[in-house]
Formats: sequence, C-alpha cells, structure tokens
Amino acid sequence: MLSVGLIGLGTIGRVHARNIAANPEMHLAAAFDPVAARMREIADMFGARGAAHLDELLDAKDIDAVVVGSSTDTHSDIATRAARAGKSVYCEKPLDLSLDKALATAEAIRPTGVPVMMGFNRRFDESHAALHHAVKDGSIGRLQLVQMTSRGPNAVPTDDYIRASGGFYRDKGVHFFDLLRFITADEVAEVSTMGAALSDPAIGALGDIDTFIVALRMKSGALVQIDNTRRAIYGYDERIEVFGTGGLVESGRTPRRMVTRSSGDGFLSEGLHANIFERFGRTYYAAMAAFGQFVRNRENSVPSLDDAIAAQIIAEAVVIAAREARTVTISEVIGGARGA
Ligand SMILES: NC(=O)c1ccc[n+]([C@@H]2O[C@H](COP(=O)([O-])OP(=O)(O)OC[C@H]3O[C@@H](n4cnc5c(N)ncnc54)[C@H](O)[C@@H]3O)[C@@H](O)[C@H]2O)c1
Repeated sequence: MLSVGLIGLGTIGRVHARNIAANPEMHLAAAFDPVAARMREIADMFGARGAAHLDELLDAKDIDAVVVGSSTDTHSDIATRAARAGKSVYCEKPLDLSLDKALATAEAIRPTGVPVMMGFNRRFDESHAALHHAVKDGSIGRLQLVQMTSRGPNAVPTDDYIRASGGFYRDKGVHFFDLLRFITADEVAEVSTMGAALSDPAIGALGDIDTFIVALRMKSGALVQIDNTRRAIYGYDERIEVFGTGGLVESGRTPRRMVTRSSGDGFLSEGLHANIFERFGRTYYAAMAAFGQFVRNRENSVPSLDDAIAAQIIAEAVVIAAREARTVTISEVIGGARGA
C-alpha cells in the first residue's frame, strides 16, 4: 500500500484526491493546502489528516510519496523539498514557468534518485496512446504529417488562473508538445506560430491569447500542425491524426456516449464532453495508477523530468517564435538556456 501526501487541494488536487482514494493500492494519508477550509473538506471526505504546514507533511515518516497539485509557481520548490525528504514525487505540469528554474529544479532532484513522474495525463488516453503504438509498430510507414486539435471547453479559466498560467502556449500547449514527442518518439527541430485573442477579450486584456496554430518540423522531417483554443461553445473537442506512407491513424472526437438518433431531419449524435475532466477523467486515474506501479517496480515508462524539460523547451521556442514573429530552432533555445 503506497501512503500518499497530497499538496494543493484546488481543482486538480480534488481530482487526484478522488483517484488516490479510489486506488486499492494507495492510501491518502495526509493533505496540505494553505486554505484551511479545503483541507477540512478533503480530510472529511477521504479520512486523510490535514497537515498544519508543508514540512509536517514532508517530514512524516508514514508518507512514501507526494502528489504536487498546487499552483504552478510552487511546483519547483515543493518537488525539490519532497525529493530531498526521500519521497517519491508525482508533479503536475509544468515543473516551473521559467525554463532556467525548471532546469535547475531537475538538476536538484536527479541526485536524490527518487522516482519522479510528471502529470502529462493525456499520454494515458487509450485513443491517443493507440497513435503512439501505430507509429512504434511501423504500421503507418514513414511519418509525414501530425495534426493535433484541441478546443474547449465552453468556459475559460479565471483571470487569476490566466495571470499565473504562464500563457496559453506554456499552460495548455505544453500537453501537446509532450504528446507529440510521445506519439512520434521523435524530437522537434524548429517551430513557428501565430496566436490571437479572438473569443475572450478579457484574455487579450491580460496579455494572453485564446487561439493558436503552431507549425513544427520534427528531426525526422515530419511536419506537424497543432491548433488550440481556450473556448469551444459545443464542448471539449480534441482529435489527433498521424499520417504516413503506410496510411492514417486517427484518435477521433469522442462524444459523451456513442448514441445517434435519427428523425425526419437526419441524424443527431450525442454531444461532446462538457470539460476536460469529463473527457479525460479516466486518464487522471490511469496516470495515478501508473505512478503507483512506477514507485513499486520502477519499470513502467512514465513521463519523466527529462520529458518535462523537453516539452518546456518546445513551449519556450514557441513563445519566442510568437514574440519575434519568426521560425525558432530548438537548438537555439537549448543554447540560450545553457547560457551559450
Ligand atoms: N494535468 C492537467 O490536465 C491539469 C489540469 C489542471 C491543472 N493542472 C495543473 O495543476 C496545477 C494546479 O491547477 P488548479 O487548476 O488545480 O489550480 P487551483 O488554483 O484550483 O488550485 C491550486 C491550489 O494550490 C494551493 N496552493 C497554493 N500555494 C500552495 C502551497 N505553497 N502549498 C500547497 N498548496 C498551495 C491553493 O491554495 C489552491 O488550493 C497547475 O500547475 C496546473 O497547471 C494540470
């Protein structure tokens, strides 16, 4: 039984609390959030003890692993302290908003040797993972094109969330930069982009965008297009296709249920999921279960610190490409981060 301490009890923290509690091989021992009411709620709901402060949870001898689901600006500090305290770490993305700080955090954590997994949950979507397997088994031949679309939900995050998010490219884009590396088992060579605030003027007023297209060239030569929007009025719409000399494999748009009604006016399909937690709910459970297995046997492959850094480097390249309206190479960003 893996005894887990959960840090950060906001939106994603509650998802993790439910999944840890539902996992027969995990036990939610303790939780911490500076907002006392949230701790009381989680403690009451799952029988976990609320920690008076972070160190109490990190020093607790009965806790094997911590899940870091707190605000982004706290991840690097908490993950480093947890690793130094000898706890296995599941850390929400991103490791840090600053690439330099993320690199320094990874450097600080690696020598501890503790198992670390990053919360790139989309890798655990069965349909998306099928694309990874299709590329791996060679059935689509030489990869030519990857197209990734993610739109929605029909709501946008709060102003506070947007302000702390690091911007749309780093916040949501990073999931797709990670998925792209996972699906293709290839690395990005260069990126270009266009972004705009088109649906929600408040997002534009905060200096962020709600719509982007990113074009990427992989080292293999394959070409990729990613488009993302913060809002889609018809629900959560995500699909990915990989196309190559051997054909096409697609992870399609998933309706809430596979129901189609027919009437005199034609066919009407079931609508899309209302939000990311409906669409990808199962992936958060699967990711947490994979973390438990990883801590136990260290054999299964989970998103690592290196994956976190790689995805963040791509996001950084895209941010520069947007700011300077030019194509940016990944080697340029790596050189810059190393102070070259
Ligand atoms: N993998 C995913 O799909 C996914 C989805 C949502 C959020 N996230 C990530 O999870 C993180 C949290 O997002 P959220 O939407 O839950 O935000 P949120 O604002 O709802 O919750 C953040 C919580 O962290 C707490 N907190 C702040 N400082 C803390 C500290 N020092 N110690 C402990 N707790 C602290 C806050 O009080 C709050 O309860 C972000 O980094 C976000 O990028 C990932």
